[in-house]
Amino acid sequence: MREARITAPALRRMKCQGRKISMLTAYDFPFAHLFDAAGIDVLLVGDSLGNVVQGQATTLPVTMDEMVYHCSLVTRAVQRALVVGDLPFGSYQTGVEETLRNACRLVKEGGVQAVKLEGGERMADRIGAIARMDVPVMAHIGLTPQSVHRMGGFRVQGRGERGQARLLRDAHAVQEAGAFAVVLEGMPADLAAEVTAQLDIPTIGIGAGIGCDGQVLVMHDLLGLSLEPPPRFARQYVAMGEIVSKAARMYDEDVKSQKFPSERESY
Ligand code: KIV
Repeated sequence: MREARITAPALRRMKCQGRKISMLTAYDFPFAHLFDAAGIDVLLVGDSLGNVVQGQATTLPVTMDEMVYHCSLVTRAVQRALVVGDLPFGSYQTGVEETLRNACRLVKEGGVQAVKLEGGERMADRIGAIARMDVPVMAHIGLTPQSVHRMGGFRVQGRGERGQARLLRDAHAVQEAGAFAVVLEGMPADLAAEVTAQLDIPTIGIGAGIGCDGQVLVMHDLLGLSLEPPPRFARQYVAMGEIVSKAARMYDEDVKSQKFPSERESY
């Protein structure tokens, strides 16, 4: 029997029941299928695809058309997980009307059940507008990669009294605006735990310690597929890059020594 689909309200219930939420990024059909079948609760089609799929230095160049395309690959594969599509840089910063148009595209053309955007208090009007359109919206505060130039690099946020106060303000603002969940990225673990305790909506941490309601990782870090060494907060569960390289080297050798294809592999 097919398992019940994870929904935005279901995540809220998980928080109330103290059940932790697992979230992973996915960008294509085969990995989305594998992660969904493995029981991951939420699949995020993240604009991190700019880094890990496109090889860009930041997420800033990722376009709406690219996000719609990758969302459609992922949603085609998924039966149980909640699929969240990221709004890329430039698709919501310019105003509420454009935000709504682009959120609609992710839902209508990409097939996602929810969208995500970066920013706290300053994005409250956009979060509210999307939520009023009945599209569940996930917020993302702390280290927000689309703000790399303002932050002066990918730096841990929420340090010091002012940083902490600002993050708590952001967390409450996105909840009040109507976000159904919030990603807490790159912040001290005790601050993330405090945000989690204060909010009614679930928090999903990345580089934010154990005290969040759930955790998210970029799939390339989990699988050892990144060209860069994984960040300190990530845990690599398998060295898939090495496995793939070994397979490619073996194939190369077999082709060149005429061991492939064999008779059995020929018509
Ligand atoms: O784009 C992304 O993958 C993200 C996660 C790191 C939360 O925003």
